[in-house]
Formats: sequence, C-alpha cells, structure tokens
Amino acid sequence: MKQRILFVCLGNICRSPAAEGMLQRLVDREGLGNFVEVDSAGTYGGHAGERSDSRMRRAAASRGIELTHRSRQVREEDFKRFDMVIAMDDNNYEALFRLAPDREAQFKIYRFREFLRHHPDWSYIPDPYYEGHEGFELVLDLLEDGCATLLEEIRKKVK
Ligand code: 4NP
Repeated sequence: MKQRILFVCLGNICRSPAAEGMLQRLVDREGLGNFVEVDSAGTYGGHAGERSDSRMRRAAASRGIELTHRSRQVREEDFKRFDMVIAMDDNNYEALFRLAPDREAQFKIYRFREFLRHHPDWSYIPDPYYEGHEGFELVLDLLEDGCATLLEEIRKKVK
C-alpha cells in the first residue's frame, strides 16, 4: 500500500521542505519511489508560491539535497490524501489539530520529535528563520535523525 507523508511547518520555506527533500532522497535511494509520496506545506500561507529560503537551499545543497518545492498552505483535504501529517513544532501541531475535520484525521497528526533517536534534548524542530547558519545546520541534523527512523517505518509498511 502506498504511504503518503506530509511534513508541515509554519512558512513551508525552511523546515518542512527540507524534511521533504531529505526523506525523498532516502526513499529514492532505497528504490521505494513507487511506494511513497512525500510533500510539505505550511500552516501560514504568506509565502505561498515561493521557493524555499535561499539559506536552507544552500545548507541542504551542501548535503547533496536539492530543494525544488514551492510553498503552499496546508488544507483540510490534505487529511484525506495523506496517511501521516508530521508537525515540526507544537504550534504547527495545534494548528493542524484545529484544521483536522474529524477524529480519523486527528489520528494522522504526528510530531516530528517522535522520530528522533539521537537528539534527546530536542522536543521540536526549532524555527531557523531568524537564526544564523548554525540554526539551519541544526535543523538538518535533526531532520536526518528523524527521517532515518521514518524510512525504517515506511519500509515495514510498504514491503
Ligand atoms: P519555516 O520557517 O516554518 O521552517 O518555513 C519560517 C518561515 C517564514 C516565517 C517563519 C518561519 N515567517 O514568519 O515568515
């Protein structure tokens, strides 16, 4: 069965498109592209249509990940299409919870921190927008950790 994963942050120009690009690369490397769909969206629509933040694109590129996503706002219909809707922080989680049309949809919402294995000090993925370069590197370190766990879970479900 195909697994559809949606990452959600605030602006959909830093954290969630980076998570999308990172998981997509892992999925492609494993040859699971036909079994997995990965996308991202933001709870705030103010950056809709924009490419990812140039600082995040640069940081991701230095890890071999090209970010081509265009920002979009999350919408109620996303709860129909996607199996897992993964929030980067508690604000995103609460916004998704309010948007979810029913209990079934609410059960699809996860916090990215649930997939962290090697970063016990982090309970959310920090917003790097007002941070320096280190903020973007930290986000990518956390995303690498959680995406590796997610890939394991996806592998179990699709095979
Ligand atoms: P993101 O980062 O939620 O990781 O995409 C942000 C992007 C834009 C804004 C805040 C956070 N903003 O306030 O415009």
